[in-house]
Amino acid sequence: MLAVQAEGHEVTTIESLSPDGAELHPVQRAFKECHGLQCGFCTPGFVMAISGLLAQNPDPTPGEIEEGIAGNLCRCTGYASIRRAVRRAVELTQSPPPPASPGTPPTTRGRVTESPPPPASPGTPPTTRGRDT
Ligand code: FES
Repeated sequence: MLAVQAEGHEVTTIESLSPDGAELHPVQRAFKECHGLQCGFCTPGFVMAISGLLAQNPDPTPGEIEEGIAGNLCRCTGYASIRRAVRRAVELTQSPPPPASPGTPPTTRGRVTESPPPPASPGTPPTTRGRDT
């Protein structure tokens, strides 16, 4: 599909499956739990294909799983772990994890967080680092 053909349509990306980064999408969790990836090159395509498959068919048969992943190639895993990940994703989507208990800080693993710089004390000259003055 050309990008222009998507005009007026909603586009779901791998990044939007876990928009706040606090929790992985069930398909991403399943890939992690079942070692459904090695180098990771093919993983976004598989995760998106399987997410779409499960959105349309929440409990696919083995044949439907094969058909659902048929458009993606993986040079590393041999597909057995990917098939296990699909079956695990089915389990996870049918019984989502309990919500985090109150007071549990959100997970920031995998994200780059940057603390704001400390406030300048009175009388401190403005920073000129990185600038030609
Ligand atoms: S994990 Fe390397 S190509 Fe699939």
